Amino acid sequence: MERLRVTGGASLRGSVRVSGAKNSALKLMAAALLAEGRTTLRDVPSITDVQYMAELLRRLGAEVSRDNGTVTIDVPEKVNHEAPYELVRRLRASICVLGPLLARCGSADVALPGGDAIGSRGLDMHIAGLRRLGASVEVEHGYVVARAPDGLKGAMIGLDFPSVGATENILMAAALADGETVIDNVAREPEILDICHMLISMGAKIEGVGTSTLHIDGVTGLEPVDHTTVPDRIVTGSWAVAALMTRGDITVTNGRAEHLELVLDKLAGAGAVIEPATGQDGVGLRVSMSGRPRAIDVVTLPYPGFPTDLQPMVVALNAVSDGTAMITENVYEARFMFVNELARLGADVRIDGHHAVIRGRETLSGAPVVATDIRAGAGLVLAGLVAEGETLVSAVHHIDRGYPDFVGQLNQLGADVVREPDPDQFQA
Ligand code: EPU
Repeated sequence: MERLRVTGGASLRGSVRVSGAKNSALKLMAAALLAEGRTTLRDVPSITDVQYMAELLRRLGAEVSRDNGTVTIDVPEKVNHEAPYELVRRLRASICVLGPLLARCGSADVALPGGDAIGSRGLDMHIAGLRRLGASVEVEHGYVVARAPDGLKGAMIGLDFPSVGATENILMAAALADGETVIDNVAREPEILDICHMLISMGAKIEGVGTSTLHIDGVTGLEPVDHTTVPDRIVTGSWAVAALMTRGDITVTNGRAEHLELVLDKLAGAGAVIEPATGQDGVGLRVSMSGRPRAIDVVTLPYPGFPTDLQPMVVALNAVSDGTAMITENVYEARFMFVNELARLGADVRIDGHHAVIRGRETLSGAPVVATDIRAGAGLVLAGLVAEGETLVSAVHHIDRGYPDFVGQLNQLGADVVREPDPDQFQA
């Protein structure tokens, strides 16, 4: 167990490069299972979730190797169809092997990943969608057991909610189904567009990419490809918020402003100056802030709404902004849990159901806190950057799941953050 010792007070300045998105790379790795042969994925972030997904693919029979940001996946003709609990429980994204395994093997046994610290995270839409494609899907002994011995058949599917994971699983299964599938009310996150583009270059026939309705004309086989992961909009957004909170000036190269339109609008409303930028690593955006940010109200919604994955960062931002803000969380019922930790730093936050009211304070004061998930962890580190004295953020393994070299990049921008052993071994 390790923790971060964050000494507050620095204004973050300089340039950082953002790599490919965690929430795309993990799914692209799962999509590789759809084609026999060697798939090459580029700009895959160096995070523990990618290691876990690589381990899972190896268990399914693939050979996976990694060289910096490039991951090579050699998929055999026959893959195993069982994703065991000891691997699946480490990351929920492993549920995304369900669709590809079912399509490739005609059967899939994937352990239920369970809930986590941000909410219950159901799978009903994944299961209903695969059933519509003709599979029998049951939950038995903690596993999703799916069977389609005669293959999958195209169908009309409407999602109750634009679920990212359900869209991906059904899309991947439909790519190899017999006939046409129409999926209505799909998620439209940039990561969904990324997997669509990869599947299309693998030979899938998909229309409506970027809209709420996908038309998939099933094919009998797909080819392995070489694909570059879309840049991580959540890491980009986290750096943007860090610039506001620390009254700094950060250039995020490889960051895509067009994937953060609403977020950047909000941050501009808080007083930030946001402009396109070019750096050593190509184009991106520059976010600078002078003076104290103004409070901003935010409502989280599926893309193109404000991303729930940036909610902890805007709560932290509002904790030191001028004024009172209301944040409404519409995606996860328990994502405000982390505000109890933020309150330990002196933040004035009141929760009422899925609303949080935050009264900004001039300053926070350093204290020991626990990261309960990836984004809560990042939010707490940002709060620590503007707190007086030292903030000790434990359970740092959560942050390692989604932020490549977070400490290195923070220090490169002028922060004072040290990673050290955590003497308290009983942390979450
Ligand atoms: N939901 C159901 N039933 C389903 C599917 C989803 O009730 O069958 C509910 C979930 O419980 C949740 C909501 O719908 O309350 C949204 O779930 P969604 O399926 O859209 O999310 P996901 O695919 O499980 C991905 C990201 C999350 C991100 C969400 C929303 C990955 C690996 N995870 O999760 O990322 O918050 O989309 O954008 O892609 C993170 O990176 O920290 C993270 C949690």
